Amino acid sequence: MKKTTDKKIKLEPVLDVLYNGANWNQKEDDYTQHFYEQNLSQFWRPEDISLQPDLNVWHVLPEKVQLAYARNLLVLTFLDTHQGDIGMPVVSRSLDDHFHQRKAVINFMAAMENAVHAKSYSNIFMTYMSTPDIDDLFLWGEKHPNLQNIMKSIVGYYKELDRYNYLKKFMEDSKEFNEVDFNVAQWKAMVASVFLETWLFYSGFYYPLFFYGQGKLMQAGEIINLILRDESIHGLYIGRLAQEIYETFDNARQEALQTWLYEFLLELYHEQNELVESIYDEVELSHDVKVFVRYNANKALMNLGFDPYFEQEEVNPVVLNGLNTETKTMDNFSMKGNGYQKMKSEMLKDSDFEFKQEKIIKFGGKK
Ligand SMILES: [Fe+2]
Ligand SMILES: [Fe+2]
Repeated sequence: MKKTTDKKIKLEPVLDVLYNGANWNQKEDDYTQHFYEQNLSQFWRPEDISLQPDLNVWHVLPEKVQLAYARNLLVLTFLDTHQGDIGMPVVSRSLDDHFHQRKAVINFMAAMENAVHAKSYSNIFMTYMSTPDIDDLFLWGEKHPNLQNIMKSIVGYYKELDRYNYLKKFMEDSKEFNEVDFNVAQWKAMVASVFLETWLFYSGFYYPLFFYGQGKLMQAGEIINLILRDESIHGLYIGRLAQEIYETFDNARQEALQTWLYEFLLELYHEQNELVESIYDEVELSHDVKVFVRYNANKALMNLGFDPYFEQEEVNPVVLNGLNTETKTMDNFSMKGNGYQKMKSEMLKDSDFEFKQEKIIKFGGKK
């Protein structure tokens, strides 16, 4: 195998300039401004969707179905909260100072996570449930061992990058700081971020999509679709940045990191499966949801530039139909369906995210 060495990706700062401004007249790369346009054109507010029309259906659902529905949204709430509070901000801060446009895109995505996505779940809770039931629901999440393990693991990588951000900022010249270790921490945090965005969210999305596909709880389903559309480009963007960093590592490090990646995947997969069982066994959907979990784990790996890990399986067509944004119709009573667009923009296609640079990482860790 040809031996390579880790490359530095840091650009040399312009001498005698301490601070410079974001100059949007010059593109930082050939994809960030595209993600900027897409993110902003998709902007929406939680209050844009009226949830009242769902109440007739919600109130006749069996209690165990209501519980499974609410618990899924609670899991999503926890993931979105920490993605907004620490995940996205830490990744943004880790980028070199001159990447003003990249930081702007990530900061915008960070704002969506908690202020829009988590807030939307709370709006659903407030419409469907009583305050004591909402309090019990949050308590359930705070004490759920698998959910807590998942959060601890993901946020752990964010905190580690946070520590490196500090070292780079204030102790770059000390022995404690090493550029390659920093890039490894940055890449691992981005992997955690893509796993969260493109994979872990989806066991929670399954149930609302399952209802939406059957024409039930349509307003909540519209909210899920808007969130899903956002998460889809978040995972693509961070995945793209992660691939750029991975490319700088030498062969030996790439192989070691690939081993870590699959170990991390299996650790989360174990927790995710138990979490799914704890929510979906009661409504007899665990088997189907686990298929969906594996389907989305493969998608997350592909966003990071790796080949799928799990065998291809057939996903429930009702849920797949719910995933397909092109099949959605606008509900005139909701004010905004996921066809709503603030600015003129087109529906996303996979080909929109095929950039000049080829997919750089294969399963064997070779370029
Ligand atoms: Fe989110
Ligand atoms: Fe996101």
